[in-house]
Amino acid sequence: MKTAIYPGSFDPITLGHLNIIKRAAVCFDKLIVCVMVNSEKVNRGLFTPEERVELIRRVVAKLPNVEADCSSPLIAEYARNGEVAYSDGLLAAYAKRRKAHVVVKGLRAVSDYENELQMALINRKLNPRLETMFLPSSAKYTYVSSSMVKEMARYGAELSDFVPREIIGDVQRKMDSRRDG
Ligand code: PNS
Repeated sequence: MKTAIYPGSFDPITLGHLNIIKRAAVCFDKLIVCVMVNSEKVNRGLFTPEERVELIRRVVAKLPNVEADCSSPLIAEYARNGEVAYSDGLLAAYAKRRKAHVVVKGLRAVSDYENELQMALINRKLNPRLETMFLPSSAKYTYVSSSMVKEMARYGAELSDFVPREIIGDVQRKMDSRRDG
């Protein structure tokens, strides 16, 4: 069974992510969409890791070989504290645990490549059986990112061109609650 992991922050999942998921899902027997901690974004989350997984589950419900997960039960604690890095939260360790040998990453622009290449090399150093495969994002979605979605939602913009329709209400409500709180 060929299992691949599509890791990311997914805060929240976008139409660009969904496009990569659908294209990767046809290449593998199983695709695990895994919410992981990006230490550079750790204190800037809109949704908790559990909420992100729930949103992804809803969006991929009709894709039979795609599952949503987060890297470790400790992920929420890590995200809250922003302190200790549990080795369990490393992508290389997670892949080993899930018996996956491929990591799928979407590339929106050449500028993404430098950082992604470094991560691919580190991941292979930590887990020599782990290959990273890059999928170029569809031209239609090159400008779509979770940060851009949050910015649009903050100003009450229409989100249907950016996030899957199943989660539009969740993003708007979460942003409203942030604004009110
Ligand atoms: O959507 P993002 O924020 O670009 O995703 C980045 C992510 C979460 C995939 C990356 O930061 C990651 O792999 N985090 C887990 C920790 C890890 O294994 N880091 C890479 C080796 S230092």
